[in-house]
Amino acid sequence: SRRKILIARAIDPQVVAFLQQHFDVTTNAADTVWSPAQLAAQLQGQDGVLTTGSERIDAALLAACPQLKVVANMAVGFNNFDVAAMAQAGVQGTNAPDVLTETTADFGFALLMATARRVTESEHYLRAGQWTKWSYDMFAGAEVHGSTLGIIGMGRIGQGIAKRGAHGFGMNVVYHNRSRLSPALEAECKARYVSKDELLRTADHVVLVLPYTAENHHTIGAAELAQMQPTATLINIARGGIVDDAALAQALKAGQIAAAGLDVFEGEPSVHPALLTVPNVVLTPHIASATVATRRAMGRLAADNLVAVLGGQAPLTPVNTPDAAARAVRWAM
Ligand code: GLV
Ligand code: GLV
Repeated sequence: SRRKILIARAIDPQVVAFLQQHFDVTTNAADTVWSPAQLAAQLQGQDGVLTTGSERIDAALLAACPQLKVVANMAVGFNNFDVAAMAQAGVQGTNAPDVLTETTADFGFALLMATARRVTESEHYLRAGQWTKWSYDMFAGAEVHGSTLGIIGMGRIGQGIAKRGAHGFGMNVVYHNRSRLSPALEAECKARYVSKDELLRTADHVVLVLPYTAENHHTIGAAELAQMQPTATLINIARGGIVDDAALAQALKAGQIAAAGLDVFEGEPSVHPALLTVPNVVLTPHIASATVATRRAMGRLAADNLVAVLGGQAPLTPVNTPDAAARAVRWAM
């Protein structure tokens, strides 16, 4: 008989149709964000699940769902997974990298441009009917071309942003990462490796593209903001929690840095109330990979992972290696 899967949130209908060719599919037509207990209830009897990042997969959930074999996240980030608990429980986790790289790098640049050039702040002013005369310093922002771009987290998306900056905007690109890129990749990105301190002190624009992990919690807090230039901008397209949002709101208010652009927040979809009251921050609702084509491709990659794993094949983009004995128990169910 056919395997059963759950699609935990609404996704592209083409991807749902594809999954229906392979599995007995349960959808979440109302697109409800389920509580852990609701998710566990929905997962009873399911062999696999397609998640979007809003579902927490941890030891308690896995214990409550003994038949579950694979969890396919429709996101490159998988901080909603307890990967160690999943491996121990014999459950395969997968993510959706690569297909979103260029689209997300595009958005990183969009947010950088909007922030440096005060696009949304000036639009609010215009819409509010405050534009009565032009003046020479009206919404005068920071230069983008030829400036120094500092990228923290130099994975595929970081490299995409570096290339856009170096090749398209003639920027001087510096980066910091857990490990250095190969000389060939550094040359391709025209990027120079520096310490985090040097990056914070010298960059005109700091872009965060690193995964959320315990060690990356508050990579940018009050101390780091104090190292940055008062004319600098900070862009976070990585994850909430990498920036201390309260400290950032404070720094923006105090003029310690010029502006920030944020696509991700601590405690999404809540936004720190202080950030909502400062004018020099551009706020977007976690949309960096949101183009029709890319969201479809991410869904399709998650779906392909479910088809592969539940068909007994190797996952395309695994994030863990399930314990063999625990895996066998789940596959016997
Ligand atoms: C989005 O944030 C993703 O991780 O794909
Ligand atoms: C992270 O995995 C990235 O692609 O930047």
